Amino acid sequence: MNTPATPTPTAATASIGSGLTSDLRGGRVQVSEKSMINSRADVNQLLPMKYGWAWEKYLAGCNNHWMPTEISMQADIALWRSPDGLTPDERLMVKRNLGFFATAESLVANNIVLAVYRHLTNPECRQYLLRQAFEEAVHTHTFQYICESLGLDEGELFNMYREVPSISDKDAWALQYTQHLEDPGFTTGTPDKDRAFLRDLIAFYVVFEGMWFYTGFAQILSLGRRNKLVGIAEQYQYILRDESIHLNFGIDTINQIRAENPHLWTSDFRAEVRTMLAEACELEIAYGRDTMPRDMLGLSADACAQYLRFITNRRCAQLGLEPVFGHTDNPFPWMSEVMDLGKEKNFFESRVIEYQTGSSLSWD
Ligand SMILES: [Fe+2]
Ligand SMILES: [Fe+2]
Repeated sequence: MNTPATPTPTAATASIGSGLTSDLRGGRVQVSEKSMINSRADVNQLLPMKYGWAWEKYLAGCNNHWMPTEISMQADIALWRSPDGLTPDERLMVKRNLGFFATAESLVANNIVLAVYRHLTNPECRQYLLRQAFEEAVHTHTFQYICESLGLDEGELFNMYREVPSISDKDAWALQYTQHLEDPGFTTGTPDKDRAFLRDLIAFYVVFEGMWFYTGFAQILSLGRRNKLVGIAEQYQYILRDESIHLNFGIDTINQIRAENPHLWTSDFRAEVRTMLAEACELEIAYGRDTMPRDMLGLSADACAQYLRFITNRRCAQLGLEPVFGHTDNPFPWMSEVMDLGKEKNFFESRVIEYQTGSSLSWD
């Protein structure tokens, strides 16, 4: 009988894996030994803490805990079943909107678990990633719950990322940045590979969660502001609040890696990142036009395009980059109000007049 060979841990597996082997051979972890990427320090020692900003986001995520099944879908079901409840254009928008999110949440979750978690080599960030991964599961649960509640065609909904070009174009763009990072043989540790990891963080945290969700948020929240599909709108409100923390974690992570590894952030790489954000903005504008061929709910595809250019410039500023577009005003300032609300205060129960200032929407 053959005895299985005991694998010999390498420096790379020690740094990206459990860290146990390196710990047993080494001493207690000092703060100075911790780093965002390529750390050799034991990843099991949360304390002493170095990255307090990651821990704060973990606490904030826990404070925002919610489950989709807490929210009644009765009014949404009645409206969806009513022949005159929604216009055909509104139904098309809702289905494509749900179709994008239904699989987007899984794509983001898989990137966290299979790519990001392995290569962020400190326990503070990993603690947050564990929380975020659960929140992405809650978000996927939300779309299962909506699909079941409204009696939607699950095959149609969960295959839009393969079958609707404006959705599959976005997903294919993002997947090119995660696929090789999910390879078990991939490790960071050279400038080229470290930049590949940065590209993945930018594609998923800045673009996917920080740009591509926002047309969809604006569409569904606009329905909610008009007292339509209020259950789904309330769920989107909570998803948006979660996602704003995900985005900020991603921005802080990228900027901390930059600070610790300034040699990675060359002028060529900065130009490449700005090109990535410009491409991503165009893909989202195309998605907005595909989901809203005609104006509805006080929204237009042109206004959504302006909103995305505004957001793209904002993401550039957060990464210390020059804006991609000229000065662009935010056409939907009310979106900022939603992100700032706590769970105890439901946006749709607030007096709508509070949110009308500066908005292009008119109220019924
Ligand atoms: Fe999510
Ligand atoms: Fe997210």
